[in-house]
Amino acid sequence: MPKGTIDTGYFSELPEDINIANLNPELFPKHIAVIMDGNGRWAKARDVSRTQGHKAGVKSLQEFITACVKLGIAHVSAYAFSTENWSRPKLEVKALMTMFAAEIEKQMPLLMENGVRLHFLGAIDKLPENVQESFARGIEQTAHNTKLTLHLAVNYGGRQEISHAVTRLARKVSLGELKPEEITLEHIESELDTADIPDPDLLIRTSGEMRISNFLLWQLAYTEFYMTDVLWPDFTRYDLLRALLSYQKRERRFGGLG
Ligand code: IPE
Ligand code: IPE
Ligand code: MG
Repeated sequence: MPKGTIDTGYFSELPEDINIANLNPELFPKHIAVIMDGNGRWAKARDVSRTQGHKAGVKSLQEFITACVKLGIAHVSAYAFSTENWSRPKLEVKALMTMFAAEIEKQMPLLMENGVRLHFLGAIDKLPENVQESFARGIEQTAHNTKLTLHLAVNYGGRQEISHAVTRLARKVSLGELKPEEITLEHIESELDTADIPDPDLLIRTSGEMRISNFLLWQLAYTEFYMTDVLWPDFTRYDLLRALLSYQKRERRFGGLG
């Protein structure tokens, strides 16, 4: 598939409201952030367990990643577990951790086939040992993939990330490596989990919530937001196209006059 063309085979069951000719690959985001919300409500509506909802959420992420690879998107940051999600019932947290540890291995064929490199955002070192080990294996096995980098946010909080960055900079100051008045935006950025990754161009949040829930606070400064009522397990490749069509129509001014 030459660069700049859309794989119409993969998107062959186009709903009527989507005109693929209106999509301009040259205007696609380099980095999409996604808050995958609504697994619990999806499960409740079907009278199945929340865990089943999260499992359905993994399937949705598989499709999302595959579709992003087909479209040539270079970075996807996906919010899988926030620092605030520890406050959920112990059983749900445990089920999620078990799922994270198991899924990395299960998804390996798909990640390798699609050229997806794994990277994590958040305090991974505070996760259960088996989860850490599974993540480390995932990073190692996918290290040479180049099509798309999946930044999976697990035990991630935007405020915590900024606070850690401040601590590291303060340490440099106390060691005399840096003067307080020399601290620039670049110094702060280089201490974030997203150092060297371009800021997200587009943020997608599913399930109708209109908030960012402590996701990428620094990085979302000039990101375009796309909120949809669709619950994450129901989100398809075509919903991604809808988000891209909406994104393409925006005029990004970055404070200027456009
Ligand atoms: C998002 O779905 C997944 C995680 C936060 C782990 P939720 O579990 O928040 O689903 P709802 O919001 O209860 O529907
Ligand atoms: C945000 O969803 C976190 C993830 C999707 C991992 P939540 O469901 O935790 O957010 P709130 O509590 O509705 O803000
Ligand atoms: Mg939720």
